Amino acid sequence: MRLLILGTGWMAQEHARRFSAIDGVDIVGAVDVDAARVGEFADGFNIPNRFTSLEEALEWGGFDAVANVTPDRIHHPTTMALIAAGKPVLCEKPLAENFGKATEMADAAEAAGLVNMVNLTYRNVAALQKARQMVQAGEIGTVRHVEASYLQSWLVSKFWGDWHTDPKWLWRLSRGHGSNGVLGDVGIHILDFASYGAALDIDHVFCRLRAFDKAPGNRIGDYELDANDSFAMTLDFSNGAFGVVHASRWATGHLNELRLRIYGDKGGIEVVARRSRPASARMSRTPNGKSSTPARWRPTTSVSSMPSPAACRASPASATPPACRRCSTSPWCRTRSGRN
Ligand SMILES: NC(=O)c1ccc[n+]([C@@H]2O[C@H](COP(=O)([O-])OP(=O)(O)OC[C@H]3O[C@@H](n4cnc5c(N)ncnc54)[C@H](O)[C@@H]3O)[C@@H](O)[C@H]2O)c1
Repeated sequence: MRLLILGTGWMAQEHARRFSAIDGVDIVGAVDVDAARVGEFADGFNIPNRFTSLEEALEWGGFDAVANVTPDRIHHPTTMALIAAGKPVLCEKPLAENFGKATEMADAAEAAGLVNMVNLTYRNVAALQKARQMVQAGEIGTVRHVEASYLQSWLVSKFWGDWHTDPKWLWRLSRGHGSNGVLGDVGIHILDFASYGAALDIDHVFCRLRAFDKAPGNRIGDYELDANDSFAMTLDFSNGAFGVVHASRWATGHLNELRLRIYGDKGGIEVVARRSRPASARMSRTPNGKSSTPARWRPTTSVSSMPSPAACRASPASATPPACRRCSTSPWCRTRSGRN
C-alpha cells in the first residue's frame, strides 16, 4: 500500500514511525502547508515526494490511501476531497468539529464504498481490551456505574513545549482555529475509552465546560484563548448505567493519564493508562455477603510483563509461563485459566 501522510506536525511523526514498521506499507508522499516542515519531515523519514497542498498531491495521484494528521478543523474539507478522489482515509480524532460534519464524512465514505477510520489510539491499551472482555463475559455482572477521567498538565508545565509560543498548542486553545478544547481534543478519547471498556453505548450526555483566563485579554497573537480547558460530564448508558467523566489540562502531576472504573453488581474493574508506564487493570469482586473485606483488589493484567492473553491461554494449564508473573503466583489468573 502506498501511503500519503497529510499534515506533518507532531502526531504525524508517530504515524510515520508506526506505518514504516508495517510490511507492505510504503510512505510515498507527505503534504504540509508549511514547506520547511514537510521538507524536514520527508527528509527525516526518507519519503520521496513532498507537497505543500493536497491539491498538488491529488494531481500527482501516486498513492493508495491517506493518513490525515492535520488540525481538527482541516479534517473535514481534506477528507471530503480525498473521498471524492476515491482515496481511503485514516483520519485523526476528532473526526470533525461537530456531529453534522462527521456524519457527512462517514456517509460520503460509505456511499463511495471506501475504507475510512478514526484514530482512537487508546483502543491499543491491552488492559482496556481485557476489561471489555471481562465485562462481556459477565465477570462483574450488570454494569451500574462508570467513572472515567483523562488528565493532562500541559497548561502548567513545559514538558511538551511552551503553549504560549508553540502553534501546535495554541490552535488547541482557540475555537476560532477549530478547536473544541479539551472536550474535542481528549474528551473524544476518554468517552470512547469508557464506552468501549464498559461495552455499552452512551444514550445521553450532560456536560459543563470551563475556559479559564490564561493571558492578558485572553489572547495571544491571532489566537483567542476561548476553548475549554476542563469539563465535567454525566452520562446515561444504554443499559441505564450511570457515568461520570471529566478531563482537564490543568492536572499538575499527570502528564497524560486515562483512568476508567467500571462497577457492576458482581464486581468492579479499574484500568489506568499513563504516559511511559505500562497500563494496568485490576479487579474487585463483591463478597456476596460472605466476607467482611470487600475492598480487596487484584491485578488482572500487568501488560509489560505478561505474554499476550492469547499466548497465555494457549499454554497448558499445568505449566507456568515464565514471563507471566500472575499465572505463577495468583489463583486469580483468569487470563490463563478462564476461571472466575
Ligand atoms: N490519536 C492521538 O492520540 C492524537 C495525538 C495527538 C494529536 N492527534 C490529532 O492529530 C491531529 C494533528 O495534531 P498535531 O499535534 O500533529 O498538530 P500539529 O499542529 O503539530 O500538526 C498539524 C500539521 O498540519 C499542517 N496543516 C495545517 N493545515 C493543513 C492543510 N490544509 N494541509 C496540509 N497540512 C496542513 C500544519 O502546518 C501542521 O504541520 C489533530 O487532529 C490532533 O487532534 C491525535
